[in-house]
Amino acid sequence: MSQRRLFVTTALPYANGNFHIGHIMEYIQADIWVRFQRMQGHAVNFVCADDAHGAPIMIAADKAGKTPQQFVAGIAAGRKPYLDGFHISFDNWHSTDAPENHELARQIYLDLKKTGLIETKTIEQFFDPEKNMFLPDRYIKGTCPKCGTKDQYGDNCENCGAVYAPTDLISPYSALTGATPVLKNSEHFFFKLSDPRCVDFLEKWTQDGKLQAEVANKVKEWFSVRTNPDGSQSEGLGDWDISRDAPYFGIEIPDAPGKYFYVWLDAPVGYLASLKNLLEKRGESYADYMAAPGLEQYHFIGKDIVTFHTLFWPAMLHFSGRKTPDNVFVHGFLTVNNGEKMSKSRGTGLDPLKYLSLGMNPEWLRYYLAAKLNARNEDIDFNADDFMARVNSDLVGKYVNIASRAAKFLPDGKLVASREQSHMTSTNLLKLVSQNFEDREYGKAMREIMAFSDNVNSLFDAAAPWKLIKEGKADLAAEKSSEAIQMFRVMTACLKPVMPGVAAAVEAFLQCAPLTLENAATPLPVGHQVGTYQHLMQRVTAEQLDALFEAPAAPEPEKLTPGGEELAPTITIDDFAKIDLRIALIVNCEAVEGSTKLLRLTLDVGEGKTRNVFSGIASAYKPGDLIGKHTVMVANLAPRKMKFGISEGMVLAASHADEKQTPGIHVLEPTSGALPGMRVR
Ligand code: 2FM
Ligand code: ZN
Repeated sequence: MSQRRLFVTTALPYANGNFHIGHIMEYIQADIWVRFQRMQGHAVNFVCADDAHGAPIMIAADKAGKTPQQFVAGIAAGRKPYLDGFHISFDNWHSTDAPENHELARQIYLDLKKTGLIETKTIEQFFDPEKNMFLPDRYIKGTCPKCGTKDQYGDNCENCGAVYAPTDLISPYSALTGATPVLKNSEHFFFKLSDPRCVDFLEKWTQDGKLQAEVANKVKEWFSVRTNPDGSQSEGLGDWDISRDAPYFGIEIPDAPGKYFYVWLDAPVGYLASLKNLLEKRGESYADYMAAPGLEQYHFIGKDIVTFHTLFWPAMLHFSGRKTPDNVFVHGFLTVNNGEKMSKSRGTGLDPLKYLSLGMNPEWLRYYLAAKLNARNEDIDFNADDFMARVNSDLVGKYVNIASRAAKFLPDGKLVASREQSHMTSTNLLKLVSQNFEDREYGKAMREIMAFSDNVNSLFDAAAPWKLIKEGKADLAAEKSSEAIQMFRVMTACLKPVMPGVAAAVEAFLQCAPLTLENAATPLPVGHQVGTYQHLMQRVTAEQLDALFEAPAAPEPEKLTPGGEELAPTITIDDFAKIDLRIALIVNCEAVEGSTKLLRLTLDVGEGKTRNVFSGIASAYKPGDLIGKHTVMVANLAPRKMKFGISEGMVLAASHADEKQTPGIHVLEPTSGALPGMRVR
């Protein structure tokens, strides 16, 4: 067989949180395929990267008090234990914020522009006057125009399911600041997918039979009707808005200051950037690699991102004069114990790191998922009881058991000749399993292997070598056991892409060359010496599964002290009325020379003059963070002389009693509309 050259990716995860089990499932699915291809002698480059850009990450970083770069670096630093822990064999992990991606994304855009497929249009969008930024739909909330439910997102109502545009919301507000958004014009860049050249190309690309049937059918609908944000329907593909206005964490559009690529434009380019980075580290040429005829490119993705990968991405590549993917392999969602969908942000249920920390074998999960996966984009469920049955009865009871039972009857650990005609069936198994791996029909492959294993176990039971020994027929016992060991080797080769760790242990035990689905068809020679059998795999216990799904222990209610301290003794309303709290505008804020703790605030409390207040918040805020914000101050506190001057009041801020345990100081800020001098009661 001639060597194939394969470039394989999984979807790039957003760098705004740790992996959840849905990510791990996708990586395992792709990793099994990649390991299978490598076992066949094919050359694979298997890469991924963090999807670093976009408004949600920018906002999350801001909330965490970090720059977006610091924020995504923190997330990236936590990736390794998951990937190593579940034996995911990526050749490279990169970032869409890396220089290779900036350069490639800009180049692809410039190439697209030359084809006349980029145009600009002015659109009207909601703008947060406090944050000074255009608001993405999910950061606009308001009352549903259909059913009147409050606090609904800008694109659809969770109560009645209505789909609408953010501008349809009643009393819209910014989810970031609470401010009432204003409509503002902005020039946006569009990729003209509605251009007949694009439509023609994409119809061919998506309907030529390469895509999974259910995926191709879904995509077909988008060419005829399309649902607009306001719920109305239009004909055919719509143009794609590929730009966002500053402030945005992303890649600046060439010759368009203040305009950035929408995160979904540069995200898939990250596939290429990660590959380029890998090849350059190895001293190979990226351009040559991509230009070589016969290179195959595949993306494993979830069913929620099909549009991006079957329309936008192939069109971007094709019209910029680049190679398009050979296919995208779409999988469904993973649910846990029939639970809710693994949501991107929440990913509840099965915590992958907890799984590992409980000492649970990663290859159990790899096997279990393999047994459930097929080539369609169906959802699959992780079920604890089913998991236990598959691991304990299939893997340990059927497969591992063969080696542990048979090894003891080999004379001096040597294989003898056997008369059993199982060579044909093992050749068949190897062929069938190979085809199923190639087709991503892992479930079928696992079923074939287990049926084969049932067969081997029955033959072994029928021969009963332990009885043969007692009857003085040690030769026959050795023959039956050798046969079983040879078949065990064949099964191990079949399971190797799924369970590389077990396969390595078996190769050591059998003292044989690294197994492939080809060399396993040739039995080990008569007289071959095998090593001492050592237990290959434990059973999973009910205790482990209980611990895995156990909710973290809730703190004892009586010990709960809000914010880490007891409530102060009760006061009367008159006591409270003695404290005069007022809204203050922070007119200026500056560092205090000689103090690492204090900031000097200049406050306008509506008195026609400003006040000078020192506040111990320098650990939490840079002076520029606060200027222009409103806060609450104690306006009738007696002035206090401090080392750096007189403090004429106190601003209110929240903090935990134990700052080491729960760091952070949070200056109070009223919702929009409060004016300097208003009393807080
Ligand atoms: O849906 C997601 O999680 C995206 N971060 C996937 C990006 S895949 C590729 F295009 F980068
Ligand atoms: Zn509604």
